[in-house]
Amino acid sequence: MKTLNIGLIGYGFMGRAHSNAFRKAPNFFKLPYQPVLKAACGRDEAKVAAFATQWGYESFETDWRKLIARQDIDLVDIACPNDLHREIAMAAAKAGKMVTCEKPLSMDGAEGLKMVAAIEKAGVPNMVWYNYRRVPAVTLAKQLIEEGRLGRIFHYRAKFLQDWTISADLPQGGAGLWRLDVNVAGSGVTGDLLAHCIDTALWLNGPIQTVNAMTETFVKQRKHSLTGKVEKVGIDDACAFLARFQNGSLATFESTRYARGHKALYTFEINGEHASIAWDLHDLHRLQYFDHRDEGRVRGWRNLHITDGDHPYMDKWWVPGLQIGYEHSFVHQFADFVQGLGEGTPASPTFREALATQYVCDAVLKSGSTQRWQKVKQVQDKK
Ligand SMILES: NC(=O)c1ccc[n+]([C@@H]2O[C@H](COP(=O)([O-])OP(=O)(O)OC[C@H]3O[C@@H](n4cnc5c(N)ncnc54)[C@H](O)[C@@H]3O)[C@@H](O)[C@H]2O)c1
Repeated sequence: MKTLNIGLIGYGFMGRAHSNAFRKAPNFFKLPYQPVLKAACGRDEAKVAAFATQWGYESFETDWRKLIARQDIDLVDIACPNDLHREIAMAAAKAGKMVTCEKPLSMDGAEGLKMVAAIEKAGVPNMVWYNYRRVPAVTLAKQLIEEGRLGRIFHYRAKFLQDWTISADLPQGGAGLWRLDVNVAGSGVTGDLLAHCIDTALWLNGPIQTVNAMTETFVKQRKHSLTGKVEKVGIDDACAFLARFQNGSLATFESTRYARGHKALYTFEINGEHASIAWDLHDLHRLQYFDHRDEGRVRGWRNLHITDGDHPYMDKWWVPGLQIGYEHSFVHQFADFVQGLGEGTPASPTFREALATQYVCDAVLKSGSTQRWQKVKQVQDKK
């Protein structure tokens, strides 16, 4: 079997989630390539060396440019903060490497468009890690919608709620806290959390045409971990927006890191003329389904336990009734990517597909500052 030599950049939260996927995918899926954990890259030599040993990487680098220059790397996987995605992805594409990149694709739409142009000019396989598409219950939602079970869709409702930045003493910048530094993150909850909600929504319900948003920064100044100075906070702490989809449906989206009691409450509900579906990340192996066509006496919300062999991806795991978790969404996404390489069909979302989310985020942030409805720029089809 041919090998797929992987070079991972960034060994934090996502570096671990991806490494786990690289290791597990060939055990549970029949893949046309054997993934090889060739090199991990991070700036701190001792830490990246320890990571490489723990996760079974053959080697490590402390400069991502050196990793990209290596002849023995086929795939560059970007799992570092958002401000580095563009430069690394474009350099990797130029070097002829396949590129998988964490979300959000870029700091904004303009930067994302340059990345799409570079990756398509190089003609290299590419994918963005919007992993929630591969939670089996979410994939099932996609199947049910495509089968027309919901009929015409009227409403889409999504939330992503957290509570970890309420303390004004929390600094911004540096390890783990780069998400609060607008120069590194690009935006706050919009690019970090709503990007997930938007990607899922575009996938399930089609393009968004217009948005009207409100954003707020509750803590306006925070000490910066790297400079030691108290600096202005440039990110949106919370964002709520209205949206109109091309299919005529209306939507509300909300995200915040100030919802005391909620850790990662990503939920969505979709209401169609015949049926509704609802999903909740805290209960990710379940899909709620209501079908008005059921006989009235037994009609009600069905609580589907997505663990059976005929549910998406589940025939690859254990036996019916035994559920899987968060990390499996990354295993599924990587397996789809490698299977796509074998078949010549790219796994979604590609860079071009992920650019659509960037454009919605741009319009949301602009609306938040102008207090006006904004049109969303649409991604053109590949020529
Ligand atoms: N798909 C998801 O659900 C999901 C979840 C969390 C984060 N993310 C995305 O993943 C990316 C990384 O987030 P994270 O939570 O893993 O962050 P993290 O802070 O846990 O890890 C970031 C890693 O990047 C490394 N890094 C920073 N600068 C570097 C450089 N110049 N060269 C090499 N390595 C460098 C850091 O040392 C660290 O190992 C972000 O784009 C984020 O938005 C996606």
